Amino acid sequence: MCGIVAYIGDKPARPLLLEGLKRLEYRGYDSAGMAIVNGDLQVVRSVGRVRVLESLLEQHPGMSGTLGIAHTRWATHGEPSDRNAHPHTDDPGNGHGIALIHNGIIENYRVLKTYLEEKGHVFNSDTDTEVLTHLIGELYAGDLEQAVQAALREVTGAYAIAVICEKEPGVLVVASKGSPLMVGVGKDEYIVASDSSAIVAHTTQAFTLDDYAVARLTRDSFRTTTVDNVPFSPQVRDLEFNLEQIELGAYEHFMLKEIEEQPAAMRRSLKGRVDAREGQVVLGGIADFARELVKAKRVIFLGQGTALNAALVGEYLMEDLAKIPAETDFASEFRYRNPIIEDGTVVIAISQSGETADTIAAMDEAKRRGALALGLVNVVGSTISRKTDAGVYLRVGPEIGVASTKAFLGQITVAALVALFIGRRRFLSAEHVSNLIRELERIPELIEKTLQQSDRIREATARFVERENWLFLGRGYNYPVALEGALKLKEISYIHAEGMPAAEMKHGPIALIDDGMPVVVVATRNSQYHKVVSNIEEVRSRGGHVIGVATEGDTEIARYCEEVFYVPDVVEPLQPLLTVVPLQLLAYHAAVLRGKDVDKPRNLAKSVTVE
Ligand code: AGP
Ligand code: GLU
Repeated sequence: MCGIVAYIGDKPARPLLLEGLKRLEYRGYDSAGMAIVNGDLQVVRSVGRVRVLESLLEQHPGMSGTLGIAHTRWATHGEPSDRNAHPHTDDPGNGHGIALIHNGIIENYRVLKTYLEEKGHVFNSDTDTEVLTHLIGELYAGDLEQAVQAALREVTGAYAIAVICEKEPGVLVVASKGSPLMVGVGKDEYIVASDSSAIVAHTTQAFTLDDYAVARLTRDSFRTTTVDNVPFSPQVRDLEFNLEQIELGAYEHFMLKEIEEQPAAMRRSLKGRVDAREGQVVLGGIADFARELVKAKRVIFLGQGTALNAALVGEYLMEDLAKIPAETDFASEFRYRNPIIEDGTVVIAISQSGETADTIAAMDEAKRRGALALGLVNVVGSTISRKTDAGVYLRVGPEIGVASTKAFLGQITVAALVALFIGRRRFLSAEHVSNLIRELERIPELIEKTLQQSDRIREATARFVERENWLFLGRGYNYPVALEGALKLKEISYIHAEGMPAAEMKHGPIALIDDGMPVVVVATRNSQYHKVVSNIEEVRSRGGHVIGVATEGDTEIARYCEEVFYVPDVVEPLQPLLTVVPLQLLAYHAAVLRGKDVDKPRNLAKSVTVE
């Protein structure tokens, strides 16, 4: 994905666009650029971070105006470079002075590029995006909105775009299909961005563009239509978060801030949704579908990355607590494997951003085949939250660090609530639900206790941080935690790590174990504890160094481990909410010790809004 920000109003656009890019940089950071219309069109762009663009802009003191667009890129087509950085323009010299920024993929760009080159257009980049600019230029006949509508009717794929033209200094045109775009409504000004983090400093009133929507913004009004020029009125709503939530404060990294926010985040996820005394779970977002959920014959969890790992925990919880057959699938696989959706199938899409392209497409496919679709997402008003039949927001607050932490905890918490909501309407007694609610309500303070081990975890991590290959093992509810621990370590420290069911290690991966190889084993007291201890022995007998995650008070496990991180004891289904915390801290400290960019790891972006 990438970060898009655009402004039209009466203030200088440049500082406002730059601040917006900094707030959106977690969405992609290969290159950055800005275009401003002030008489003529001025464009500055560069490979590298926003700070590189900021320095470059200082060489253009005259670049000013009150209409502009800016972009921070996550490349899909064309390497990160100056020439592939957005904004892209139509033909310099004999064009119309059009500049455009884009999030998404224009799937039919090759055909369009050939057509446009035959028309004499000269391309200056390797991106798919540039065809849009030239196509709009080709169709421009004095009305930018009409040219954009006409061009978008010709493209297939996903886009969120902002377009300006030096011939129309009072007009900003934006449009969206399959990529997120939000319009902040100020007083005689509009600020458009990929998400509310770049808007909330200027206004709390905004509307989201639905698929095929086009908005024409001037300094004192706006018009919204479809790409076929059919007008409609968008729903302007109040944005639900404040600046403090998206600022670092005293922390060095958002990731650590968000790890340490987890107790408060989990309390927010639970607030108003559980009643231990009555043994009830209250979820207004799915209450209208209670009957369908109670009668469900199968539940399919969908997600990618960390959300997929949370989905695996959700699958176990659904079978354990609601006694409904459940499965988990990579959204990217589900959508193309011709899935069988029978009557009574419920699909649950899990996503922090609510904008992951594969998860959206998989959920669309499931709905197309008749499934009831729920969304467990964090970002209010995101695409998945708007396209699903019902859902439950995580409520963990904005997650800025690319490596997902508090959202993982929120996804498991909400999955547990959904399973309890259904289970209580099927076979669970009030007492059983009360007991589990009381366990859930204890966990935030137990996380606080676990977080106190951070310094010790850093010291332990330092012993192994130079090793380039790690294994993560777990069984049952802790198998997804092993996957998540491996993913965290991979994505921010660039150490190769593989998570798997502990028993699976014997079926091949054990060949990898050599002297001193770090093997992290989640070995909390539960139904499979003794089996896991056997797996630890198998690792040690081949020279592996075991880093254990164990239950407080278990002194025996220390005999088998080089290092042990302890977590308080909780019922087995809720153990992932605690066992993941030491692994998040391990990954964080490993990345810092290795001097990596914790919040903006190479090649990554916060949400993958392209396929
Ligand atoms: C997790 O740390 C990664 N950033 C990534 O795997 C992420 O979980 C995945 O892209 C899904 O994102 P979503 O939850 O926003 O759908
Ligand atoms: N596909 C466009 C490019 O590669 C946009 C990528 C993005 O969404 O950042 O430049």
